[in-house]
Amino acid sequence: MTARIDMLRLHDLEPTIEEFREAVVAGLGSTPKTLPCKFFYDAEGSRLFDAICELPEYYPTRTELAILRRHAGEMADEIGPDAGIVEFGSGAGIKIRLLLAALERPAAYVPVDISREHMLAAAQDLAAEFPGLRIAPVCADYTRTFALPALPGAHPQSMVGFFPGSTIGNFAPSEAVAFLARARRLLGRNALMLVGSDLPKDRETLEAAYDDAAGVTAAFNRNLLVRMQRELAAELDIDGFRHEARWCPVQRRVEMHLVSLSRQEIRVAGHRFAFERGETIHTENSHKYSLPEFRALAGRSGWLPARCWTDPEERFAVHLLRSG
Ligand code: AVJ
Repeated sequence: MTARIDMLRLHDLEPTIEEFREAVVAGLGSTPKTLPCKFFYDAEGSRLFDAICELPEYYPTRTELAILRRHAGEMADEIGPDAGIVEFGSGAGIKIRLLLAALERPAAYVPVDISREHMLAAAQDLAAEFPGLRIAPVCADYTRTFALPALPGAHPQSMVGFFPGSTIGNFAPSEAVAFLARARRLLGRNALMLVGSDLPKDRETLEAAYDDAAGVTAAFNRNLLVRMQRELAAELDIDGFRHEARWCPVQRRVEMHLVSLSRQEIRVAGHRFAFERGETIHTENSHKYSLPEFRALAGRSGWLPARCWTDPEERFAVHLLRSG
């Protein structure tokens, strides 16, 4: 039997240019100025993100991979046979391979991602490696409500949400609770969820991870400005903004900003947005939860924290949650 990708079932909900324009106008029009981090991930942004994951300073990917390599067998034992996996954000596919390879007869794989081409290319590769696995990609913004596609021919014994990469940290804590609660409803009864979450640590390590020497994260952040120019015909000076990453210990998050180097304006979609020198566009938060903080967060969303795995240095954690 060959793996099947339900191309026809692809729910095409890729964010439109209008959605980007509205977000830019709303974000630059608010005080302080912000832009939603989900717009980082066009084709170029996804490529830059993959490059970030290879950087020496960016420890989360490497560390989470090591945890998965070491403990995927135990995770698979907890999950059991014939599971249907729903991955929120499909990424480069290495992590899902480790999980699928450890599972007994995985029944279905549903990657959910807003970057359609990136996701489909990854699904194609995966299909070749896991014959018999039903693959049903959903192009959607998983920060909103969406439906699971029908999985004809697949009879998953349980549904398992897979949310690696500490992307949970990009939500505000209240949004993270809302996301986990929605995932719980989406996955139904008897569900499980595996969530990767970065742990708090010293400022130097955290800030270096988000401001690497090679400038890849800076290019990733500035890509928002590049997209505004290209897709929205924005008039702006890309070199007039510098990348900044700051660890905020009170809020326990790394913030990314684009800092205006002078008094200037951005003209876009019939609007003019004035910047003072030093004024910033806040483009991303990356919250870091300690193990008890994460368990409390999961508990508030109705999940029961069941297990968690960390690396020996306790840099990163993978939590297993049960629906009840
Ligand atoms: C999307 C959660 C993996 O917040 O660490 C990497 C995105 N931003 N470098 C993170 C990101 C800057 C990243 N994740």
